[in-house]
Amino acid sequence: MKKTVLVSGGAGFIGSHVTVELVEAGYDVVVADNMSNCDMTCFEGVTKIIGRRLPFVQMDFCDMEAVNRLFEEYHIDAVIHFAAFKAVGESVEMPLLYYRNNLLSFINVLEAARTHGGCNVLFSSSATVYGEPEELPVTERSPRQPATSPYGNTKQMCEDFLRDAVKAYSEIKGIALRYFNPIGAHPSALIGELPRGVPNNLVPFITQTAIGKRECLSIFGNDYPTPDGTCLRDYIDIVDLAKAHVCAVSRMLDGRMKEPYEIFNVGTGRPVSVLELVTAFEKVNGLKLNYRFAPRRSGDVTAIWADPTLANEELGWKAERSVEDTLAAAWAWEKHLAGK
Ligand code: UFG
Repeated sequence: MKKTVLVSGGAGFIGSHVTVELVEAGYDVVVADNMSNCDMTCFEGVTKIIGRRLPFVQMDFCDMEAVNRLFEEYHIDAVIHFAAFKAVGESVEMPLLYYRNNLLSFINVLEAARTHGGCNVLFSSSATVYGEPEELPVTERSPRQPATSPYGNTKQMCEDFLRDAVKAYSEIKGIALRYFNPIGAHPSALIGELPRGVPNNLVPFITQTAIGKRECLSIFGNDYPTPDGTCLRDYIDIVDLAKAHVCAVSRMLDGRMKEPYEIFNVGTGRPVSVLELVTAFEKVNGLKLNYRFAPRRSGDVTAIWADPTLANEELGWKAERSVEDTLAAAWAWEKHLAGK
């Protein structure tokens, strides 16, 4: 029998790409989202890519009754939990909003997973839990550092909620995936990143500058102790990232987990500087980007990239797309949005 996967926050950037990959891998998918930080663009894009409309429930995961109703209506074999706020700066200004939304929604998911006959839970975590690492690349055993923002704190706390829930309730199994920097868009250019207002993240700012929506990209800091003075990150293609979820979900559903709670880094293992990324974008898309060097952005770590060995070996997953292909896809998506 086909297994059903619930994707909370499934209308967003990562959720929509994961939904497509799950469907292509043969899973039934239920998409749920409160639409607080997106519109239906990506859900409609998913419909076009897969050629049919998936069950969609507009609901808030902070509403326990709504979560229970969802678990009663569908037999959920696994849930992938994306539904959360994710802007670091905003979380510093509105910590209680972030704590209420990100923590309560996940507690509700865990409660429902426990009380509706058991369920596998995949939590979308972040490399932010490693803070400024002492050794690079980071493995899953690298120590977590105290969070520097309420957003980062919610990622650490939710990891702990999952670890503790799995320990206490044998009917729940859990995987936390720690993402590095997800970028790019689906090769169809029908789904991609859709930031509201001025983008916080680098690649949407680059594509919006290239299309003329923003005047100039500020590169935050060129005096870091790195080869070219700009920060180093591990940029992971969004479709590669989505495929890691399919590998993790099938590991849970097929009973291949070695521990009831597991953690995997999802990255390429390849550090790329901000300047290298900008140059690669210009080269692959044949254009010049207006940029300038600006002061460092507070809270940025100098360098972080993954050791993805564990995910490579245990999940049978590996990042495949080149940075160039990913940046070409990001640009195709920006042009699609502009109707060009
Ligand atoms: N950057 C710029 N100009 C911009 C935007 C970003 O130079 O306009 C630089 C940043 O300073 C950083 C790099 O581009 O060096 C990447 O920045 P992003 O904002 O795209 O990504 P971060 O690495 O800061 O953020 C990621 C995740 C967050 C997570 C954070 C902390 O997107 O979810 O890591 O580790 F919280």
